[in-house]
Amino acid sequence: MNFTELAHTHKGLFEQFMIEAVSFRSQTHLEEAMRYSLEAGGKRLRPLILFAVLEAFRKPVEPAYYYGAALEMIHTYSLIHDDLPAMDDDDLRRGKPTNHIKYSEATAILAGDALLTKAFELMTRGDASAETKVMLIKELAKASGHEGMVGGQQADMDGEFANLTVEELESIHARKTGQLIHFAFLAGGTLAEASVETVTDLEEMAYTLGVAYQIRDDILDVQGTEEELGKRTGADAKLGKSTYPALLGLEQANALLTEKLEKALALNRRIKQREETYEEELLSSFIESLAL
Ligand code: IPE
Ligand code: IPE
Ligand code: MG
Ligand code: MG
Ligand code: MG
Repeated sequence: MNFTELAHTHKGLFEQFMIEAVSFRSQTHLEEAMRYSLEAGGKRLRPLILFAVLEAFRKPVEPAYYYGAALEMIHTYSLIHDDLPAMDDDDLRRGKPTNHIKYSEATAILAGDALLTKAFELMTRGDASAETKVMLIKELAKASGHEGMVGGQQADMDGEFANLTVEELESIHARKTGQLIHFAFLAGGTLAEASVETVTDLEEMAYTLGVAYQIRDDILDVQGTEEELGKRTGADAKLGKSTYPALLGLEQANALLTEKLEKALALNRRIKQREETYEEELLSSFIESLAL
């Protein structure tokens, strides 16, 4: 099975599951705003990565929908807040008006807060052992907070109009985007009960792909189209963001993306050498799909 086939099998069912989790008996303004951004679409990459790891180890995917939904809710909340006037000040997301444009700034802040807390409620409802759940809750909290995504977002804003080194930039990308992607791989490997060596390889793959994914996002902000991406392009240059294309130019940024993808493919092959029944194609096809 490849990544596209996995997405085809699970995306619709997973989205239904996630929407049901925020289908409250009442339907207040706040609840409508939470659903609006979740339903707006989105590639669902982070939950699909988690499911792909499970599938690669031939483990059932549906029981992990709770963890995937929690991860996607935190990612969606991060985008709602990222788009706020005080942050990137964007008016288009997932092909629709951003949450604060559709509702209000105050409601967008609260919808983000509520998705973040709902995520941790869902984490407690999965069917893993209590010990595994506590470990995953701790990892997701760390990945999301000041050491992870939120810390990366602060560093991203502090880096506006600054001259950063490649290392400093990589550290921002690793936190703001890499940490949630890392959780997808870690949760997949943990729930699949993979060996310690294999989980370590998955984590290294995750860090590599997390940075690669933000490099790709930064390149697409320069050369993609709004129709394709469902969000405004040229936004980074306007805000003076420190990005790989700004620091190195498009060509070198693209070369670095290719280098990271090759490293991730090599790690995936190494897992296959260790684990005979591992279905290598699930992640190799995903990694290859990130090339520009
Ligand atoms: C956008 O993430 C923000 C980044 C971290 C680069 P995605 O590209 O996964 O956005 P959606 O979820 O498909 O909208
Ligand atoms: C945002 O990065 C990463 C998050 C943690 C939300 P960007 O600001 O580049 O994401 P887009 O381009 O608005 O989707
Ligand atoms: Mg941003
Ligand atoms: Mg942004
Ligand atoms: Mg971007």
